[in-house]
Amino acid sequence: MRDLLPENRPLLILAPMQDITDLPFWRVLSRYGGPDVYYTEYFRVHRDSRPEKFILRSIEENPDGKPVIAQMIGQDIDALRRTALDLQKRRIAGIDINLGCPAPIVCKKEAGGGLLRHPEKIDAILREVRACVHLRFTVKTRIGFDSPDEFPALLDLFRRHPIDALTVHGRTVREMYKPVVHEDAIARAARLMPCPVFANGNVRCVESARRMVEATGARGLMIGRGAIRNPWLFTQIREAWTTGEVRTRPTLVDLREYIDRLDRETRLPGMRDGGHVGNMKKYLGYIAPGIGENDAFWAELKPVLTLRDLFAVCDRHLLSGGSDSVLTLTDSIWVRTESDPSGK
Ligand SMILES: Cc1cc2nc3c(=O)[nH]c(=O)nc-3n(C[C@H](O)[C@H](O)[C@H](O)COP(=O)(O)O)c2cc1C
Repeated sequence: MRDLLPENRPLLILAPMQDITDLPFWRVLSRYGGPDVYYTEYFRVHRDSRPEKFILRSIEENPDGKPVIAQMIGQDIDALRRTALDLQKRRIAGIDINLGCPAPIVCKKEAGGGLLRHPEKIDAILREVRACVHLRFTVKTRIGFDSPDEFPALLDLFRRHPIDALTVHGRTVREMYKPVVHEDAIARAARLMPCPVFANGNVRCVESARRMVEATGARGLMIGRGAIRNPWLFTQIREAWTTGEVRTRPTLVDLREYIDRLDRETRLPGMRDGGHVGNMKKYLGYIAPGIGENDAFWAELKPVLTLRDLFAVCDRHLLSGGSDSVLTLTDSIWVRTESDPSGK
């Protein structure tokens, strides 16, 4: 993975997000500059599994040719080896193992985050799967199941295996998606691991990207929800690191166009209006909060049932009056400045 690290800035990675970071979403992001590396949403691996076709499509039709790491989730070593061998016949840059999914149904099967309660099993998986992966082999982990106190022992375990990168989502499984991100744990990993460490959790704007890198010393940033909310984020971070100035400053009109692009790319042929409204709300739930007084934009979007109403709400909040004002995303809200000093 070291060969992929840029010289003067962190590697920028789009986090895997099931049902969201699929091929259509990658296509949308690629129009805004996109990340340096994509991770697929996870391939579910068990005794009878075959790699899901819709996830394979994102590998086969990769929109901009950037490296793709294929992520697997599971605990059956033979099945993981079989799947890793199969995936390596395709155009991927590496294989990743998920040690973080907190869904109770996954953890109960001792997969994803559930594996963090079984270090001896992780040990065997890393040994056996590493042995059959000739490409990059990476791990994405949380910092423990119940408590961050579990992380030092987990790190000792990871250090014993020749993995090519470790992504640390700075929360325990129990913490799910609570606001806390244990940056000290990520920093410990960056200090002790012989491979590059990528920091993950709540990077939503250039300032939080800077803070994360300064606090942890991570060589890369993996960004999930922040990239749905602000598809310009990867470009803005590149600009901040390479020129010291963020030139890309989206307006409300740009945000409205982004929503149109999501609509075009993600609408499946023959999909009924209602189904697609649900699909669009999946993205809008990350984009809309923070816009309008008391989250008015999202509050009005939530009850809509038709695409016509959905776009009418978008137009009302994003196109009527002051629509060329510049939007700046802070950690929690979009800030709207009334005029654009750059004259864009
Ligand atoms: C809807 C959703 C789906 C996710 N699916 C996956 C997944 O398939 N594999 C994975 O490793 N993590 C998955 N995650 C976790 C993210 O990759 C990431 O670790 C988490 O969202 C924290 O990063 P963020 O604050 O930048 O979003 C998912 C998260 C969300 C919100």
